[in-house]
Amino acid sequence: MPARHQTTPTVPTVPTPMVDVELGKRRRGAAIAVLVAPGGTADEPRLGPGADAFGDGWRDWIEPTGKTGEVRVVPAMPSTAGWLFGVGDRGPADWRAAGAALIRSIQDFDTADTGRRPAAVDVALPPDIVPIELRMFVLGLRLGGYRFRVTADQAAPVRRTVRLCVDSPYEIDLRVALERAVVHGSATALTRDLANMPSNVKTPAWLAATATRAAAGVAGLTVTVRDEKWLAEQGFGGVLAVGGGSASPPRLIELSWRGGTGKAKTPHLVLIGKGVTFDTGGISIKRPDGMHMMRTDMAGAAAVIAALRGIAALNLPIRVTGLAPAAENHVSGSAYRPGDVVRHVDGTTTQVANTDAEGRMLLADALGYAVRELRPDLMVDVATLTGSMKVALGLRTGGFFATTGELAARIMAAGFSTGERWWRMPLLDDHADDVRGDLADVRQTPPGPGGIAAALFLREFTADLPWVHLDIAGPARSDKTYDEVVPGATGFAARTLISVAESLALRRSG
Ligand code: BES
Ligand code: ZN
Ligand code: MN
Repeated sequence: MPARHQTTPTVPTVPTPMVDVELGKRRRGAAIAVLVAPGGTADEPRLGPGADAFGDGWRDWIEPTGKTGEVRVVPAMPSTAGWLFGVGDRGPADWRAAGAALIRSIQDFDTADTGRRPAAVDVALPPDIVPIELRMFVLGLRLGGYRFRVTADQAAPVRRTVRLCVDSPYEIDLRVALERAVVHGSATALTRDLANMPSNVKTPAWLAATATRAAAGVAGLTVTVRDEKWLAEQGFGGVLAVGGGSASPPRLIELSWRGGTGKAKTPHLVLIGKGVTFDTGGISIKRPDGMHMMRTDMAGAAAVIAALRGIAALNLPIRVTGLAPAAENHVSGSAYRPGDVVRHVDGTTTQVANTDAEGRMLLADALGYAVRELRPDLMVDVATLTGSMKVALGLRTGGFFATTGELAARIMAAGFSTGERWWRMPLLDDHADDVRGDLADVRQTPPGPGGIAAALFLREFTADLPWVHLDIAGPARSDKTYDEVVPGATGFAARTLISVAESLALRRSG
């Protein structure tokens, strides 16, 4: 169909690398960015290598402090442009913020009316930079300039190359760090693309087709899509109840990665993501203000889909299955109601109290299916599940529940090493009995603290297997620009999921 006849816009469905990052030698005449090293003063800044390219004329005008995220454009360069950027005390988070701020400044320079649009920028890095610093810097560069727009403007985005120039004896390690950063950054960007997609495009079937397309180029990653008929045969009562009110029927997306084949005891990690393509609240309808952001209520499913692609790209020697139950929570004559009783995959019945607590209905089925079919060694579910987690932890920290301290430490480490912040929440035994139902086996919305009550409900479906529940209702979206985050979907949790898989793979080989 010609574009002008389309009423539904076509939009990017793969991560757009607005910037390619490479390692290499300085290019003569290229625009250059130079580090303002810690320890100097505004009057006497300590500059990293490459500063000679700037001459001295700028010193009367610019007093860089070297603060994290500070970027100063150096005017009157002999070449096209120059930047001075700060990394504060050189912690991993400083490098991430610095990369993001630098790429945003480079992009702004392009759009400002300078007539000079440097497509190639060299960044001179200090010789003592270590792999995690470089990895965080690259993450910032790849994600800080992210933008999602649906527009009539068909102009191809400027493709830019940032070349990192570093004179290090450990270049091989830096190359590995760069590749890992590119995989992690692409996973975050894909998660953002999927979650940002408007819900008039993003039906469950669209999400399934897009997941299939995103996996197509990746060797060894397979995708199976199940429709509503299969879901009914298999007893997915929760998914069918939630999806029942929508004109767009639900799907189950299953992604499968079988790494490390041939070895007997390959651990099996199962990742489960909430895929509510739009959450009106259903019959227990939401207030209108803020409802539009519920197009991102499948951010958990998006993180799982992107993580599977990243895990396959890294060729990790473990087995990983991703499950994304996808449904639209809508209002109609066929919508489920408060007071309904729903039967899940494992036979457990739930008495519905609030149709807006739909995420746990999908997850209960997916957990039951994983237990029944997949023999998981570890299940991790991820969901924009409860507003109360936003109240508890704010918008930049994910809350998680884990069945053991060892698993909790694994999540904290995975988040720390990839730049995502988590806080452990308790599976309080004093509220466990509140989950028991009178009309049915369990109550959908037990009383008590909302995020914890939801987790205790989900635990009923885990068969006491090792399990982690990630509630990302807060950090999945942002209305501000900070660090590598820009307004809209943040892609939160994709890197943590990949990192958890990496940690399991490491234990195997090490
Ligand atoms: N998708 C929402 C949770 C949410 C709220 C995510 C705000 C992001 C921002 C979820 O489906 C929901 O509506 N949860 C209810 C549960 C309640 C009815 C027990 C909530 O948290 O209010
Ligand atoms: Zn929801
Ligand atoms: Mn809801």
